[in-house]
Amino acid sequence: MSDQSSHYPELAKNIAPAKGRLGVFLPGMGAVATTFIAGVQMMKKGLAKPFGSITQLQRIRLGKRSEPRFPLIKEFVPLSGLKDLSFYGWDIYKDNCYETAIKAGVLPEESLKSVKSELSSIRPMSAVFQKDFVKRLDGPNVKHAKTKMHLAEAIIKDIENSKKKDKLDRAVMVWCGSTEVYSKPTKTHETLASLEKGLKNNSKDIPPSMIYAYAALMTGTPYANGAPNLSVDVPAMQELARKNSVPIAGKDFKTGQTLMKTILAPGLQARMLGLHGWFSTNILGNRDGEVLDDPGSFRSKEVTKASVLDSILDKNLYPDLYKDIYHKIRIEYYPPRGDAKEGWDNIDIFGWCGLPMQIKINFLCRDSILAAPVVLDLVLFLDLAQRAGLSGIQEWLSFYFKSPMARPDLRPEHDLFIQHLKLQNTLRILMGEEVLDHSGLDYYEVKG
Ligand SMILES: NC(=O)c1ccc[n+]([C@@H]2O[C@H](COP(=O)([O-])OP(=O)(O)OC[C@H]3O[C@@H](n4cnc5c(N)ncnc54)[C@H](O)[C@@H]3O)[C@@H](O)[C@H]2O)c1
Repeated sequence: MSDQSSHYPELAKNIAPAKGRLGVFLPGMGAVATTFIAGVQMMKKGLAKPFGSITQLQRIRLGKRSEPRFPLIKEFVPLSGLKDLSFYGWDIYKDNCYETAIKAGVLPEESLKSVKSELSSIRPMSAVFQKDFVKRLDGPNVKHAKTKMHLAEAIIKDIENSKKKDKLDRAVMVWCGSTEVYSKPTKTHETLASLEKGLKNNSKDIPPSMIYAYAALMTGTPYANGAPNLSVDVPAMQELARKNSVPIAGKDFKTGQTLMKTILAPGLQARMLGLHGWFSTNILGNRDGEVLDDPGSFRSKEVTKASVLDSILDKNLYPDLYKDIYHKIRIEYYPPRGDAKEGWDNIDIFGWCGLPMQIKINFLCRDSILAAPVVLDLVLFLDLAQRAGLSGIQEWLSFYFKSPMARPDLRPEHDLFIQHLKLQNTLRILMGEEVLDHSGLDYYEVKG
């Protein structure tokens, strides 16, 4: 720990070292999961660089600007190294990771061939799946049991067996499965007791993602939700996370168009520019696009995507600027594009004396290339959180999510730059370093 005075010395932690192997458990081994695993395997061989990853590349400023220190984050906080990660997962299809990565067509075939043996050895375990929640998919690699509680127990067994077989010291789970149909929390999700009753009674309110999440939390495995479905975003799961001292985070990886929105909207708001409307449309042709072609799954996505602008451009705080925003989001399934999504945004803004202006964005992005480093960072930071003794909602990881989870009485933070400050300051606090507010006035006004 530094000898500098922290603003929150009581929150500094004695973090257990990242010793031994960390198991990465991924429900859903599709484009994102296999792009993430393939990239890590290539990086372990020195064949690729982890662009997009904060944990691997970013430096953090510590102390005064007159004597700045800029260590790499991975050297400042004790994180697991890439060589200590082992990968596991579940999918409704039996293809191994190499076969899926080839079909997904995200990374070039020659790159995938360089890690073919590592990828081919990772085979998905049979999944907990219910077609009612993902209407466009069906597959043969599925578990069957009398109740949802029995299915949860089967996932718990999968985790425990893998840990035992490969002598894993710790584990983290990140949901990379398809987007489930939109649903709202019900009485079943209110308490741990009602959730467990629902699992035993096969409640229709409990989707597969919640069964995986329950199994993770029961085995003390930190859990992040990369999709918009509820998963751990209900009181019962938060109760369980607290009870078992497990960190959780969600929901819906922030990549592509929403990332751009949370980069641009804070700038408009900071300069007090008004907004009449924001129209966003996408074409994408991967399996995720096919799933989102179902109106129920699309509704889940629409809700998380929409919350971003409502929060950054707050009509209650600035009615003259933002009270009548027309925000429309479309996702069109267009198979020829595969994972190479294209997004268009038309933004109608106004300035001085109400004069209108327009901004157009045409983002030719690659969805899974943007999502893979997010998965890596979540794995490493959630494991750090657990070794630091943090549990429940990890608001400092909001940076990675379209719809960040927060305590019910707190406003979630969507502004990417505040989220980034929150993440970096949390790391400073955990390590007993001074929090940076970037005011800089102390360099000019404080004598001595
Ligand atoms: N790629 C991005 O930029 C991005 C951004 C935000 C969120 N997401 C979300 O991440 C998730 C994964 O995206 P993807 O592009 O890899 O999609 P994908 O369709 O390629 O992969 C999802 C996989 O999950 C499997 N699956 C579905 N239900 C399952 C279950 N109950 N158990 C186990 N496996 C199950 C499917 O068979 C599929 O292989 C999606 O929900 C997507 O909406 C992706």
